[in-house]
Amino acid sequence: MIKDLNGKNILLGVTGGISAYKSCELSRLLIKDGADVNVVMTSNAEKFVSALTFQYLTGNKVSNDMYDVSDPKISHIDLADKADLIIICPATANFISKFANGIADNLLLNILLATKVQIIVCPAMNVNMYENKIIQENITRLKKNGVIFIEPETGQLACGWEGKGRLAEIENILKFIKKKLQNKTLINENILITAGATREYLDAVRFISNPSSGIMGQCLADEFKNRGAKINIIAGHTEVDLNRYDNYFKVNSADEMKNEIDKKLNTYSIIIKAAAVGDFKFKNKKKNKIKKDDNSFDFQMEKNIDVLKAIGQRKTKNQILVGFSAETDNVVRNAKKKIKNKNLDFIVANDISKKGSGFGSKSNFTYFVDSHGSVEELGLKTKEKIAKYLADKIEIMRQN
Ligand code: CTP
Repeated sequence: MIKDLNGKNILLGVTGGISAYKSCELSRLLIKDGADVNVVMTSNAEKFVSALTFQYLTGNKVSNDMYDVSDPKISHIDLADKADLIIICPATANFISKFANGIADNLLLNILLATKVQIIVCPAMNVNMYENKIIQENITRLKKNGVIFIEPETGQLACGWEGKGRLAEIENILKFIKKKLQNKTLINENILITAGATREYLDAVRFISNPSSGIMGQCLADEFKNRGAKINIIAGHTEVDLNRYDNYFKVNSADEMKNEIDKKLNTYSIIIKAAAVGDFKFKNKKKNKIKKDDNSFDFQMEKNIDVLKAIGQRKTKNQILVGFSAETDNVVRNAKKKIKNKNLDFIVANDISKKGSGFGSKSNFTYFVDSHGSVEELGLKTKEKIAKYLADKIEIMRQN
């Protein structure tokens, strides 16, 4: 019988927390689903569960020693190379902090530095430790480097406190691993991405616009498509080839963009507004070309509809709405205002005053701001990396 995880090698890292006993169940379920599981324990983990338990559950030798003379292979490289995915469950505050700082004083930490595969971390600790600023900074640092965190749950903790810190449900962790390995984490999502620059025409031949290239939208579409989502694009002007996506539609003005979005608004589960929408349009736009008979001529402009805000007002509970913003000053403060004002779940705030960032560039200097006011500075990253980061965030949101 073909099982979901047939042919997959999963490295399960276990660190020293009370919930280490739950990872025994995780290893059992992974095996049941067809995976080959190698467990690596820290010495503190062995104070909570025995290596023998994992050895019998997985049928593989449990590794814990960097310098095991009985193993002729260089164990951290060998284990890192054969894994398709690494999961640390549970991950203690100490372990997360060491990893975030590149410390490699045990076998598991060495493997994490040597691997190129996806690392997933499932923290479990006391609520005050979890909320501690230093731990949160370390988590953010790891997330910026591509590590996925499955957030702990809120509830009764082993230490007697009540709060966020309890290991995520093993069933949910398993579900996530399966989707991740099958590259189908967003398979049920119908995503709308807007991209490129809107154009507001003055007459038949003249328009006002901006230098947006549409590349950010393309990177988002590629990343979400790779994760199994259905992609719909509504684009303003862009040189990007949109033929390869499930559905795409080209528009000129902000009004046209809004009309096109409205047609199927309630069918989209995620809406990402990466388009650079012009804030003003011409009053009394002329149908025909204006002739240059006079030496000068006057025109007036009026505010465009804020498309994103209009979507935010109609957003349903299950829809995720993400905006982008381009700012030169008070980037984060303005992003927080836009989140509230437009009823967003996230905003990717781009500081276009930074070198290497802005319209038409390959990279952007961004901050990820969420509706709870949490801010993560991603710094200058390629648009592909920004797309991946956003997709990781949405994956986790969907999972929780
Ligand atoms: N946006 C929109 N409709 C507009 C203007 C902006 O849908 N008329 C969306 C953009 O697609 C983007 C977000 O709003 O996702 C933020 O755009 P930005 O230009 O940074 O901010 P504005 O809201 O236009 O405010 P300002 O220009 O004053 O910074």
